[in-house]
Amino acid sequence: MRKLFISQHLVAASLLSLTASLLAQSTLTLHVDQAKTPVSPTLYGLMTEEINYSYDGGLYPELVRNRAFRDAPYPSHWRPVEEGNATAEFTIDRLTGPSEALPQSLKLTISQADQDNAAGVLNDGYWGMTTAPGMKYHGSLYAKGDTGPAIIDLVDDKTGKSIAHAETKPVGKDWAQYTFELTSNAASKSTANHLTVRFRKSGTVWLSLVSVMPPTYKSRPNGLRPDLMEKMAAMKPQFLRFPGGNFLEGDTLKDWYQFKKTIGPLVDRPTHPSPWRYRSSDGLGLLEFLEWCEDLHMQPVLAVYAGYALHGEYVKPGPELDLYIKDALDEIEYVSGDVSTTWGAQRAKDGHPEPFPLKYVEVGNEDWFDKSGSYDQRFAQFYKAIKNRYPAIQVIATDQVKSLTPDLLDEHYYMSAKESFSAAHKYDDRPRTGPKIFVGEWATREGAPTPNFGSALGDAAFMTGMERNSDYVLMASYAPLFVNVNPGGMQWETDLIGYDQGSSFGSPAYWAQVLFGQHLGDVIVPGELKTENKKLFYSATKKQNTLILKLVNASSKPAEIKLAIPNTKGVGTGKIFRLHADSMMATNTLKEPDTIHPQELPWKSSDRELSHTLPPYTIDVIELSLQ
Ligand code: AHR
Repeated sequence: MRKLFISQHLVAASLLSLTASLLAQSTLTLHVDQAKTPVSPTLYGLMTEEINYSYDGGLYPELVRNRAFRDAPYPSHWRPVEEGNATAEFTIDRLTGPSEALPQSLKLTISQADQDNAAGVLNDGYWGMTTAPGMKYHGSLYAKGDTGPAIIDLVDDKTGKSIAHAETKPVGKDWAQYTFELTSNAASKSTANHLTVRFRKSGTVWLSLVSVMPPTYKSRPNGLRPDLMEKMAAMKPQFLRFPGGNFLEGDTLKDWYQFKKTIGPLVDRPTHPSPWRYRSSDGLGLLEFLEWCEDLHMQPVLAVYAGYALHGEYVKPGPELDLYIKDALDEIEYVSGDVSTTWGAQRAKDGHPEPFPLKYVEVGNEDWFDKSGSYDQRFAQFYKAIKNRYPAIQVIATDQVKSLTPDLLDEHYYMSAKESFSAAHKYDDRPRTGPKIFVGEWATREGAPTPNFGSALGDAAFMTGMERNSDYVLMASYAPLFVNVNPGGMQWETDLIGYDQGSSFGSPAYWAQVLFGQHLGDVIVPGELKTENKKLFYSATKKQNTLILKLVNASSKPAEIKLAIPNTKGVGTGKIFRLHADSMMATNTLKEPDTIHPQELPWKSSDRELSHTLPPYTIDVIELSLQ
């Protein structure tokens, strides 16, 4: 986070504080001496699913799109390459592929090619392919045929020149995997590149699972994109809810998310249709989700399929549901069982002998959409089976359940900024009966593809409410997390972090999350805010002797607040972390990623007469040392 240069902004802030006496003053009383109720240690986490090219074309950095030739009958994103007088035709061959999971392939029939006139195919990637000087890639492809070695190049779209080059061993007559390494000689960073796979000999060759992976976070093989991992790490997330969302459910019963098809070698992952209108490669499968948790020190919140599909079909509670319950139990065992268990042993075989800690399992997603009323019974069947084998697991319901009491209830809120301001008080008076709350999806939805500053204010206001009530709201995760901002990349408007193949940016709402996640005490400080400003919000927590005060002024007028902290000797030093914009519409973009970002300011108020003025449209996180 950048330090503030004492600037126009500060001068403006002091002027505002001079004129603030003209405005109605608000009073905030904070009872630091009564701070006893713990802040939920798992309050802020992440929710994720394959939507908006979140994994393919996003966090999972594979360069090659439609790498297993499973998208559409025509091999989309692939085109023939014919140099000079070379000629070649391609087609999808449904009768041969490298594995049971990938039974089809691209058949390339080269009627003419030689040393100087190669023929093959090109792939245009996810709106291009990322290169930077010296960037190294691991590649591989499956092939069989009689056309000699495969020649691989990353090619600059503009110049047509190769930026990185490799050749495989000569392709043999049976399916085999061929690996290669590429090193970029590009002079600068760019995404306007494509991949070619060519041959210098006529004949027939079949291709499948053509993969080129750039560097990954912590250099994990088949790993995740470093810049996006770093952005998430800065949010200090405590958990990851996966694999969805609607992505868990699928449009019809046959499309349900089956973890067994997302583990093991990539060649054994069949890929599957997702409800978000593109096929998922499942390169980011169950083990990769878990390693993502491991790398960012998050707990997994494992959502298991509960027998409801988005188009309205459902599995009747009773024996028909047993197969799904068995799958959920197998999945839990894959995550948390030791190597003596069947699925724990499978996880070890897949490369991770250590079990992952698993405390939370969610049954389904948004089952309030199931108008048949079957969820109560479906949930109860899952709940009993899970508790029977794993009594310590906390089981989360996605709709009201009457036949028993779930451990947590997942509530979702997608709101306008105005609705978020009201929702900031949603939990203040809720009776603390029934299950605790997991706000598993929420967002202020203003701005596309990413939220504008009005959304950031709405989000911050809502988060103050969750913090004040974090004895009851135990967990919360914004959704959706990611969007590829290229045309056609977005299926759902207002997504926290935007990117293309080469770079990424945090929206104003992202920065609000960073501030709230990074500055959170461990006990709730009770308080009273007396104000006429309906758009002024606060939460206060404490960690040892530090008071962490969050103030949100979503109004177009400055807010002057008199702070009363009874029964203390006053405050010592302090810091302000400020997120501010001059308009609700202000935002960040890929081209201007840093228009809005937090600034650090000194705390100036004297400790006897504490007061603080927030400029309009401002989120302040103030850390004060208590004496
Ligand atoms: O976050 C986008 C979608 O919104 C999720 O997939 C679904 O759970 C919700 O309706």
